[in-house]
Amino acid sequence: MRGPRAKVRDYYSGTIERHGPTPLGVDWPNAASQYLRFVQLLKLCDFKKPFSLNDFGCGYGALLDYLAMRHPQAEVAYRGTDISASMISAARQRWAGNRRATFSLGSQCGEMTDYSLASGVFNVRLGHPVADWESYVESVLRDMRASSRIGFSVNFMLPHDDQPMEDELYRSQPRRWVAFCRKELGCSVSLLKDYGLREFTLLIRRKPSTAVRRQTGSHTARRRSPR
Ligand SMILES: C[S@@+](CC[C@H](N)C(=O)[O-])C[C@H]1O[C@@H](n2cnc3c(N)ncnc32)[C@H](O)[C@@H]1O
Repeated sequence: MRGPRAKVRDYYSGTIERHGPTPLGVDWPNAASQYLRFVQLLKLCDFKKPFSLNDFGCGYGALLDYLAMRHPQAEVAYRGTDISASMISAARQRWAGNRRATFSLGSQCGEMTDYSLASGVFNVRLGHPVADWESYVESVLRDMRASSRIGFSVNFMLPHDDQPMEDELYRSQPRRWVAFCRKELGCSVSLLKDYGLREFTLLIRRKPSTAVRRQTGSHTARRRSPR
């Protein structure tokens, strides 16, 4: 059987090829819910200072639209990564004039930034067994931790009370991932829910002893050193 990454890549290449660089093109029903997720995920970041940011699973770079609208003064060195070549090509076309944004094709953050976030990356399981999908989610979270100096944020869909989980989707209770991030990744975790969507967001911070100290004056992305 093909692993999660190849199936996910083909699925999202299909959505953007059908719907173009729009919320539907990244499988969201509308921009309002897409932006509401960004509001939650960005609660991790201190907008009073310049910072660098990995947008893991960036799609066509809608987060940059949101940042321009809601935080026009913010100095954000933005780095988008996506597994789908069609997404990265759409993102590069849309943001060709933005000197503070770079995009790369891949399924790892690749560079160390102050913060990383991922919106909607774990939702579409495409029939993979839950245990395999959860190992895959763990590997992504480990990479995000290793690539974030201060912390990272992610979202997950919540289960329905009275229905089994759909084979194509992944839903989880918060405790599964709060425990993983606390115990396995040694991070502190804040849980956000009840913000109007059937999902939750985790703001995951490295503990001070494990946080990677920033070099003076640097808020740019740096290639990760092996650790
Ligand atoms: C639901 S879409 C959301 C896109 C964007 N974050 C947004 O909210 O507009 C999920 C995106 O994550 C990308 N993705 C999923 N799994 C990935 C992985 N393992 N590595 C890199 N990108 C991934 C998909 O190609 C898709 O563009």
